[in-house]
Amino acid sequence: MKKIQIALLGLGTVGTGVYEVLRRQKEEIPYKLGVELELKKILVRNLEKAASKVDDPSLLTNEWQDIIQDESIEIVIEVMGGMEPARTYILEALRAGKNVVTANKDLIAAGGKELLDEAAREKKDFLFEAAVAGGIPIIRPLKQCLAGNHLTEVMGIVNGTTNFILSKMSSEGMEFEEALDMATRLGYAEADPTADIEGYDAGRKVAIMASIAFNSRVTFDDVYTEGITKITSTDIRYAREMGCAIKLLGVARLTEEGIEARVHPMLIPSDHPLATVSDSYNAVFVHGDAVDDTMFYGRGAGELPTASAIVGDVFDIARNIRFGCCGRIACTCYKELPVKKITEIRSKYFLRMQVEDRYGVLAGIASVFGNNCVSIAQIIQKAKIGDLAEIVVITDEVEERYFNDSLTILKSMSMIREISAVIRVY
Ligand code: NAP
Ligand code: HSE
Repeated sequence: MKKIQIALLGLGTVGTGVYEVLRRQKEEIPYKLGVELELKKILVRNLEKAASKVDDPSLLTNEWQDIIQDESIEIVIEVMGGMEPARTYILEALRAGKNVVTANKDLIAAGGKELLDEAAREKKDFLFEAAVAGGIPIIRPLKQCLAGNHLTEVMGIVNGTTNFILSKMSSEGMEFEEALDMATRLGYAEADPTADIEGYDAGRKVAIMASIAFNSRVTFDDVYTEGITKITSTDIRYAREMGCAIKLLGVARLTEEGIEARVHPMLIPSDHPLATVSDSYNAVFVHGDAVDDTMFYGRGAGELPTASAIVGDVFDIARNIRFGCCGRIACTCYKELPVKKITEIRSKYFLRMQVEDRYGVLAGIASVFGNNCVSIAQIIQKAKIGDLAEIVVITDEVEERYFNDSLTILKSMSMIREISAVIRVY
C-alpha cells in the first residue's frame, strides 16, 4: 500500500492536536483512504521543549531544509501562525511539489490570492478548512456542497472568546472587563486579547468566507471591524427587554451595489438561531437561492476541534494523491465585485443616550432625525438619574451615513449630555 509522508510545521496548541488526531486515526487510515499516512518530520523552534510532546523525538527538527529538501514528503501542514516565515515556507513547499494544509487565517485573509495562485500553477492542493470557525466545516460546504447556489448571505459568530464574554455578560450580569478576566483565566482569551475583542480575528474569517461565498476576492483590509469593548451590561439588559441578544457578528452579504463585509456587535431577535449560540461556541448561517437557510454550529477553536478540520483536509489530499487529481479545486474567485464602505450599508440602530430631563428634548431629538432622513421606530425613556433621563431610540432601516450625520448633530447639542451606546440592529 502506498505510504504518504507528511510534515508538520509548528507543535503548539493546534500542532499538538494534529499529532494526537493522526495518532488516534492511524489504524483506520488505510481502510478510509486506501493509503497509509506517516508523519515524517515536525518543525519546531526548540527541540528540547518539544521532545516531551511526541513519542519519537527523532521526528523533530529545527531546520526547514530537512523538510523542503525531502522529496518523499508530499503534504505539509503549516500551524506555526503569523505571516513570516509561514508565507515563505508555504510558497516554497508548493514550488517543491508538495500539497499544503494550513489553519493560518491571518495569512489567507491578507495574501490568500498569492498562495492559491501558486498552488494552481503547481497543480497542488492548498486547503484551509481550519482557518474559519475551527472544527466547524464551512470552507468545504461553501466551495463544494453549496456550489449550486447563488449565495447571498454568510453571517456568523466566528470568535469564541467574544461570544464567551458576551454570554457571561448576559447570563451573569458581568461587565466587559470582568468577563474578559474570566475568559483569560479559563484559557479562552489569549495573553493579548486585542485581535479577538476588537473584531480583527472575526474580520479575517469574514474576508475568507466572503471571498469564497461570492467568488470575488475580499481581503482583511476591506472588512469593517468594530469590537465589543464598549458594550455594557446595561445595553445587554435593555436588548433583552426588547426581545434581543447582543452578539458579535461577522456579516458577508451580497447586494446589488456590491459586497458588505463587516464585523460588529448587533442586536438580534432572541428567536434567531444565532441568538442561542452561547459560551465559546461558533455558528455560521448561510443563505442560498436553492438551499434557503442553513446553519453550521460547533467548536470554533481549540486543540482537537481545529485538528479535526486539518486532518479532514489531509485525508482529502491523500485521496487526491492516490488518484492523481491534486489541484482539482483551486481558487474560486472569478469575479471582481466592489466592497461597500460601512457608510453605504443599510441598518437599523439602537442608540442609548443621557439627556436633560425637560420639555422639548424629545422633540429636538426627533427633529434631528427627521431632518436627516432617519425614521424612528421606537423611543423609550428608561431610567431617570438626577436631572438626566436615559433615552433609547431604535431607528428604522437607513443608510449609515444618514444616521452618522444625525449622530454628529446630536453630539453637539447641549441638551444631550452623553451618547452611551450605538449598536446596529439586525
Ligand atoms: P501556538 O500555540 O502559538 O503554536 C504555534 C507553534 O508554532 C509554537 O509552538 C511555535 O513555537 C511554533 N513556531 C512558530 N514559528 C515557528 C518557526 N519559525 N519554526 C518552527 N516553529 C515555529 O498557536 P496555535 O494556537 O497552535 O495556532 C496555530 C495556527 O492555527 C495559527 O495560524 C492560528 O491562527 C490557527 N488557528 C488556531 C486555532 C486555535 O484554537 N488555537 C483555531 C483556528 C486556527 P514556540 O513554542 O517556540 O513559539
Ligand atoms: N481566538 C479565536 C476565538 C480562535 O476566540 O475564536 C482562533 O481562531
